[in-house]
Amino acid sequence: MKIHIAAHPLIGHKLTVLRDQNTKSPTFRQLTEEIVTLLAYEATRDIKTAPATVMTPVALFEGIELAEPRPVVVPILRAGLGMLEGMVRLIPTAEVGFLGMVRDHVTLQASTYANRLPENLEGRQCFILDPMLATGGTLIAAMEYLFERGATEVIAITILSAPEGIAAVEAAFAHKDHNITLVTGAVDAKLNEHGYIVPGLGDAGDRLYGVV
Ligand code: URA
Repeated sequence: MKIHIAAHPLIGHKLTVLRDQNTKSPTFRQLTEEIVTLLAYEATRDIKTAPATVMTPVALFEGIELAEPRPVVVPILRAGLGMLEGMVRLIPTAEVGFLGMVRDHVTLQASTYANRLPENLEGRQCFILDPMLATGGTLIAAMEYLFERGATEVIAITILSAPEGIAAVEAAFAHKDHNITLVTGAVDAKLNEHGYIVPGLGDAGDRLYGVV
């Protein structure tokens, strides 16, 4: 798995405010979108393009455009929804599919409760949006599903990641020839006994949607 950890002062600044327990939901949502747009810039570095020619007022110009089939953006419900706006701001022509996944607070196992994805993922680049890579269970399940459906490449965008989650994703795909990239705002110290990232930012879904 290729891993890109954003080392940009703007992301560092915004992340610090996001982590602050006194930051209220409206600001939390706004910052999440802004951070995702910055991460998306990095995550789309290898997005597939095709040649495109346009006529400027002066001459022909041979440029590029996003290739078909279009990339698919897959927010993991619920918390990944808070990242969608920041992502489609950068690639408004992307197709959007949804995966609803929840993890059991005791076993920490992920299960799928909703699935609305484009019919055909053959040959497509998929961008998974999930703010917290904690144990890795949700991300692994989502990635396996997208590859089963034919995706050729999966790029996961997370706001924060735990070393344990990164190791779990690496182990899960170690013997498979999949094209996987993780783009994350920061890698924190560890997980606590409840599966929360430390120092982290708490429960991302609750903080996005005001259930605190
Ligand atoms: N999910 C969250 O929302 N926060 C964590 O710290 C871990 C998983």
